[in-house]
Amino acid sequence: MEPKPASASRVEVTHLVMPGDANSLGTAFGGMVMQWTDLAAGMAAMRHARLPVVTASLDQLSFLAPVRIGHMAILVAHVTAVFATSMEVNVEVSTEDPRTGERRRCCDAYLTFVALDDAGRPTRAPPLLTESEDERRREREARVRRASRLALRTALTGA
Ligand SMILES: CC(C)(COP(=O)(O)OP(=O)(O)OC[C@H]1O[C@@H](n2cnc3c(N)ncnc32)[C@H](O)[C@@H]1OP(=O)(O)O)[C@@H](O)C(=O)NCCC(=O)NCCS
Repeated sequence: MEPKPASASRVEVTHLVMPGDANSLGTAFGGMVMQWTDLAAGMAAMRHARLPVVTASLDQLSFLAPVRIGHMAILVAHVTAVFATSMEVNVEVSTEDPRTGERRRCCDAYLTFVALDDAGRPTRAPPLLTESEDERRREREARVRRASRLALRTALTGA
């Protein structure tokens, strides 16, 4: 399988936050931001693998700034590492005030997706071609995160 660069699977999605997305404080529900995050990350993983994918895990998530009704939520997703059948995807979520253009970081998420074959079984994804020192550093950091999430899975499930 030919390695593919992270830039080829980059996804950027912008949502205008509407009242139906929000809680009684006028800011987006955390669960709504998580849904947008999962979708953006899934699209990046599918673009990389060109296969169906499922979410295997979502790492700890901290919301640093609220996303207000009438503001934009901007999600940028890219694959940071490919293991065998699984891929780690980073999603940076920012909020933008359309009147001023001011942007604030809302959250930074790491998700793992597994590529599936026609029978729905895990199947290998193309390797990641790292093109810069920054991408190589991100890939090294992804391997450290993978070790801890698999250790956590073993601790929780025994698998
Ligand atoms: C994710 C899933 C396909 C893994 O299947 P499995 O039979 O456990 O397969 P394996 O143990 O061989 O794992 C496959 C890969 O997933 C990785 N993986 C499994 N669970 C993981 C987790 N919690 N976090 C990170 N990676 C995980 C494994 O490390 C392996 O990666 P590798 O091939 O790159 O080494 C399966 O558990 C599943 O279908 N889960 C439900 C997914 C889903 O429905 N998501 C939507 C939300 S409900």
